[in-house]
Amino acid sequence: MTESAVPVPLCLGIIGGTGIHQVEGLQLLGEHPGDNAYGSPSRPVQEGMVDGQRVFFLQRHGSPRAIPPHLVNYRANIEALRGLGVTHVVAINAVGGISPDMQPGRLVVPDQIVDYTWGREHTFDDGRSGALQHIDFTHPYDHALRLAIIEAAEAAGIPHEPSGVHAVTQGPRLETAAEVRRLAREGCDIVGMTGMPEAALARECGIAYATICMVVNPAAGLGDLPLTQDTMRDILQREAAVVRRLLGCLLPRLGAQGL
Ligand code: HPA
Repeated sequence: MTESAVPVPLCLGIIGGTGIHQVEGLQLLGEHPGDNAYGSPSRPVQEGMVDGQRVFFLQRHGSPRAIPPHLVNYRANIEALRGLGVTHVVAINAVGGISPDMQPGRLVVPDQIVDYTWGREHTFDDGRSGALQHIDFTHPYDHALRLAIIEAAEAAGIPHEPSGVHAVTQGPRLETAAEVRRLAREGCDIVGMTGMPEAALARECGIAYATICMVVNPAAGLGDLPLTQDTMRDILQREAAVVRRLLGCLLPRLGAQGL
């Protein structure tokens, strides 16, 4: 596990996904363009204070134009946060629910990933160092950060699933029903399009990373209704409000306790 043996000074980044365009109560101190060797992040990184805790916020899909999951410059995003000194990232992802517990409206703090993405710039390793670098990704999410999220959800009385396997598909289309049956057979509980390579890139540069997933629809073939943007949007809006409440509980705790 990547649990820290000693408390690490914490500099928090939040990567907002669909529906999360700002951090509630953020007193803006400034915006950083964040341009780096890998390009420009999805949008400038906002720096601000929430309850005495310094936070860097980045909207993964940019704004006002939405960057689709397969075209997000994940390397530029993570490098921008790293360059600002971010040590811990809480990401937020919208997902479809596969296993029976993962119903729309549920929040999930996954503990595992199965990566089905392809063709994305998925590593900082360009081979030029001359040394083989195989990061340990046995436990893709930071254990201490996951626990902090789970404890904050418990303290706030927010129903959640404290574990789950997060399948990450290429998108931007949703899956076929047969693909979802296959994901279920392969042990996946939820499916989204933006969890990778973000998590692995964070690990490569030593950033502790965990995610809060919002289930916004039953995965393809599992629900009664057609998967439309409208039905997803309604649930997303409700869940985004719950995530904002969760962050409101998590941030002061991280500020007070560290990890
Ligand atoms: N599949 C993939 N990504 C998603 C889904 C889904 O069903 N819902 C929200 N993001």
